[in-house]
Amino acid sequence: MSQNKSGFLSDSMQELLGPGAGQISYERMQELNKLMSYYRCAMMEVVTKFNVLNEQFSLQFDRNPITGIKSRLKTLPSILEKLERRGHPFTLESIEENLNDVAGVRVICSFREDVHMLSEALMQQDDIILLERKDYIRNPKPNGYRSLHMIVSVPIFLAHEKKYMRVEIQLRTLAMDFWATLEHQLRYKKDVDMAADMERELYTCAHLSAELDERMDGLRQLVQQQHGHNGSLQPEKSLRWTDQSHNLR
Ligand code: GTP
Ligand code: MG
Repeated sequence: MSQNKSGFLSDSMQELLGPGAGQISYERMQELNKLMSYYRCAMMEVVTKFNVLNEQFSLQFDRNPITGIKSRLKTLPSILEKLERRGHPFTLESIEENLNDVAGVRVICSFREDVHMLSEALMQQDDIILLERKDYIRNPKPNGYRSLHMIVSVPIFLAHEKKYMRVEIQLRTLAMDFWATLEHQLRYKKDVDMAADMERELYTCAHLSAELDERMDGLRQLVQQQHGHNGSLQPEKSLRWTDQSHNLR
């Protein structure tokens, strides 16, 4: 349990967990654990959805549109810090109402077109509700940050009810992830007063990473043309299936 240095719970933590002179109300703690477990389930649902799409598209296109999926749950101190920063009350209802990114899923894609293809395929699923979409690929942030962000509401099926939980999804290419990960390490939310020439250098790197994506896209198109891929399932693929099954003993 996180406590401040003097050994007492911070005010915000105390407010969230209930009154009782440093005592954690058992029921409130249980409620909080339950809420976090709902977020974890929603996160797993979204990860599974992307794994299924990857499986399906890799059969169809003979390559994986997803190179990696990361997921994370916001920690309690970070939840409290964000509620405080935005002036929201420290209650469980407030977490659900005011925070969109308690559960986060990051999908790293091979190529730029995979990002939009996957986001569209996800949104076609009839159990998922799109709450917010920010396309920082078509409209990068002033510092050069690129990614596609979506806040979705996804149902989790509990023993006696169906509950919708919010999940933040970030989709980006390997090149976008490379830049964002290093930029995050160098600066993001660390209150580092970055010198103007360092900002410029980071922006140049973002530009280079965008160019890299563009050139790799060009190569992908070239390969597709040479192999006559039109995006549909290739007959050779089904043949290969049969061939492989012959080899099974
Ligand atoms: P937050 O309150 O920080 O979540 O911002 P927001 O609600 O305006 O959301 P936004 O979609 O702009 O950004 C949410 C998340 O995207 C952040 O928590 C980061 O993970 C990522 N992100 C946004 N901007 C940057 C950036 O400039 N650099 C890096 N490395 N990551 C970023
Ligand atoms: Mg966030």
